[in-house]
Amino acid sequence: MTAIKNIKLNNGLEMPLEGFSVAQLADATKVKDVVKAALKLGYRSIDMAQNDHQEAAVSAAIKESGLPHEQLFLTTKVGLANAGAKPAYDSVLRSLQALQTDYLDLVLIHQPLGDYYGTYHALEALYHEHKIRAIGVANFEPDRYVDFVKHVSVTPAINQVEAHVFNQQKFARKWLQKYHTQIEAWGPFAAGKNEFFTNQILTKIGEDYGKTAAQVGLRFLVQENIIVNPKSVHPKRLAENLGIWDFELSDEDMERIRNLDEAQTFFNDHHDPAFVEELSDLKL
Ligand SMILES: NC(=O)c1ccc[n+]([C@@H]2O[C@H](COP(=O)([O-])OP(=O)(O)OC[C@H]3O[C@@H](n4cnc5c(N)ncnc54)[C@H](OP(=O)(O)O)[C@@H]3O)[C@@H](O)[C@H]2O)c1
Repeated sequence: MTAIKNIKLNNGLEMPLEGFSVAQLADATKVKDVVKAALKLGYRSIDMAQNDHQEAAVSAAIKESGLPHEQLFLTTKVGLANAGAKPAYDSVLRSLQALQTDYLDLVLIHQPLGDYYGTYHALEALYHEHKIRAIGVANFEPDRYVDFVKHVSVTPAINQVEAHVFNQQKFARKWLQKYHTQIEAWGPFAAGKNEFFTNQILTKIGEDYGKTAAQVGLRFLVQENIIVNPKSVHPKRLAENLGIWDFELSDEDMERIRNLDEAQTFFNDHHDPAFVEELSDLKL
């Protein structure tokens, strides 16, 4: 396997351009098995969320892998249930404890909801105390992001948003670049929506490189300098999703894929009051 490329964040910290996600995996045994398999295959960056309550299982898998934290990149996200300065601060200390480590590589605000300034002030304090190596946000739409970046002292290193070939975030990326925040994708396969895995253009391009539609879709994102964390519970697919570092899409193919962009969400609209209401009620 060719090595996963790193990207430098705005504070100089290096982060792998590809990691893997354990999003919404409820079963602790399954989480442990997936993490062990992924680390064995060569993944080093793990994307977690406090809401998913998997940090202890991830920690157990890391321990069994024998890999020291210095070789890994661990991300978690502070959920709405822990919003506000004191709850957020305490919640990160609990995450550190569950992960049996004295630092996290990256901590994000999961949603731009509730007292997210309070949450961020806690992350800034933890960053200055060297308990977190980089801090950032998730699901911040461009308008909210610009307002936010104008009113915080540590510019977010990352904004993790929905991004895949059908929603390429071209507009958002311009604003993130302006203020030096790196984009990271969640849902890099659109979770299979829009017939992602059988898309004719991705499949046809893949044939020329001996790659699958999944690999072409991921390769496109990393070639656009978008960090990806594909999620799979199957070791065979985890391996497939890692097979994107031994080929390069031509400029012509990149342009063909750029044209697949529909510039709209395939999940939920963060501007939709009903969705905000739902997230707030669920405290996610
Ligand atoms: N920051 C955030 O707010 C955030 C972050 C992450 C996720 N999410 C949420 O998580 C949900 C899904 O996102 P996701 O990141 O899990 O989606 P994703 O990575 O785009 O897609 C995962 C899906 O694709 C399948 N899959 C993976 N690799 C495959 C391959 N090579 N060939 C065929 N199928 C493959 C997986 O099935 P198997 O597991 O069965 O292989 C799984 O069903 C969304 O609803 C989103 O709201 C949110």
